[in-house]
Amino acid sequence: MSIVLTAATLSDLTAAASQLIAFAGPEKIFLFHGDMGAGKTTFIKSLCEALGVKEAVTSPTFAIVNEYRGANVKIYHFDFYRLKTQTEALDMGAEEYFYSGNYCFIEWPEKIPDMLPLHYINVSLKVLTDDSREITVEKF
Ligand SMILES: Nc1ncnc2c1ncn2[C@@H]1O[C@H](COP(=O)(O)OP(=O)(O)O)[C@@H](O)[C@H]1O
Ligand SMILES: [Mg+2]
Repeated sequence: MSIVLTAATLSDLTAAASQLIAFAGPEKIFLFHGDMGAGKTTFIKSLCEALGVKEAVTSPTFAIVNEYRGANVKIYHFDFYRLKTQTEALDMGAEEYFYSGNYCFIEWPEKIPDMLPLHYINVSLKVLTDDSREITVEKF
C-alpha cells in the first residue's frame, strides 16, 4: 500500500503531515529516506506540529535522539547519519525507544539495517525543484 504526496512549497507540508498521520493509522515507526537536504528534518517538524508539539524541533545529528511532547503523545526523533556501527545504536538503547509504543521518526535508517522493527512506514523524499518535493509513503 503506498501513496504519493506532493509538496509544491514548504507550506504544503502541513497538509501532507496530516495526510501521512492519517495514512499511518496505529503505526508509529516512520523511516525517512532521501539525500541530505531533501527535507527529512523539515517534514518531521511539520509532523511534530500536527501531533501538537510546541517546542522547537531541530536536527538531532549530534545527540542522535531528540524527545518531544505533543498532545498526549511522545515523539522520538533520530538521526543516525553520524553512526559508525550499529552497535552504537544498540548502546544508546535504540531498541527500547523503537518498542516503547511512542512515535519514532528515524532519519538515516540505512545505518541500522539489522535493528529496524518488522513494521514501519517508509517516507521517501525526492527534490523536484528548490521548493517542491515528491513524498512517497509506503506501509510495510
Ligand atoms: N517542499 C519542501 N519540503 C521540505 N523542505 C523544503 C521544501 N522546500 C524547500 N525546502 C528546504 O529544503 C531544506 C531541507 O533541509 P532538511 O530538512 O534539513 O533536509 P534533510 O533533513 O533531508 O537533510 C530546508 O532548507 C527547507 O527549507
Ligand atoms: Mg535531517
